[in-house]
Amino acid sequence: MTRRSIDDVSDDVADQRSGAGESAPVTVRVPAKVNLHLGVGELRPDGFHELTTVFQAVSLYDEILVEPARRLTVEVIGDGAEGVPRGDENLAVQAARAVAALAGRAPGVRITIRKGIPVAGGMAGGSADAAAALVACDALWGAGLDRASLARLAAGLGSDVPFALRGGNALGTGRGERLSPVLGRGNYHWVFALADGGLSTPGVYQELDRQRAGERAPEPARPDGVMAALRAGDPVALGRALANDLQPAALALRPQLRRVLDAGRELGAVGSIVCGSGPTVALLARGPGDAINLAAVLAGMDVCRAVRRAAGPVVGARVHATEPGP
Ligand code: C5P
Repeated sequence: MTRRSIDDVSDDVADQRSGAGESAPVTVRVPAKVNLHLGVGELRPDGFHELTTVFQAVSLYDEILVEPARRLTVEVIGDGAEGVPRGDENLAVQAARAVAALAGRAPGVRITIRKGIPVAGGMAGGSADAAAALVACDALWGAGLDRASLARLAAGLGSDVPFALRGGNALGTGRGERLSPVLGRGNYHWVFALADGGLSTPGVYQELDRQRAGERAPEPARPDGVMAALRAGDPVALGRALANDLQPAALALRPQLRRVLDAGRELGAVGSIVCGSGPTVALLARGPGDAINLAAVLAGMDVCRAVRRAAGPVVGARVHATEPGP
């Protein structure tokens, strides 16, 4: 369950600039996201698709602990930790390096990631860890970066990282990294069906391109229904308006997800949708009591690996008082 890697920064360089021992550990808590609307347009020359998406941050959290250290190390604990990349592919490692470079110091830090967000589940867990590492390293090193600087670093790390920093509800355009506010009210009660194994995000986008081969790529669909439901604070309208252009591609790669979507409808969820590129499935309940019942019955149905309840919207990556446990 534990993975660790040590980078190649030499002790000499780290000793010069790291200031190991200079400050207290920092813990940052960061939420998962669900795409209430995911309209996918054309494949751009840079390899990303043009998107129109509405994000909601939900209360499934990763916790990132950063401690002063001479070298950059990362340890991952919790559910699915063995599937998290170590070394430079880990977005939290890239985030620590980015903050260090901007602050003009060596990236000496020991990072511990405690996973609560499904790994490779379509809920932006890796992006969340990057956003949390930006906030945590900034605080640990007293770098004093403002929100705009952190947001610029976030956009360079991945399409979903700026949203994980911000949280709430937001409209994402471009490749998903350009955010604007969404007028919304209400708390929404979700049940997430976790799958065995993950799906590769690039693989799901490629499957969509394959399905669309020969057709002219559409403009990304507009999220009018989701925006109206959020303005009204109406979970039933939101459930009806949920839309995800990646869902047919995720279902083609993982046909058994259809059973979870069907179960959601049978059990009275007001909406059921694949989260982002999947394979997690999100079921929207009418209210908190319905979510408890839905989660209990779904857990007994043998259509998914595990069931989690969460509410949204919640704030993005924030310094948290307590340190993660073992
Ligand atoms: O930005 P991020 O690193 O999360 O994207 C992972 C992969 O998902 C990209 O390399 C790309 O294959 C795909 N993607 C895409 N269009 C987007 C976002 C992601 O094709 N707007």
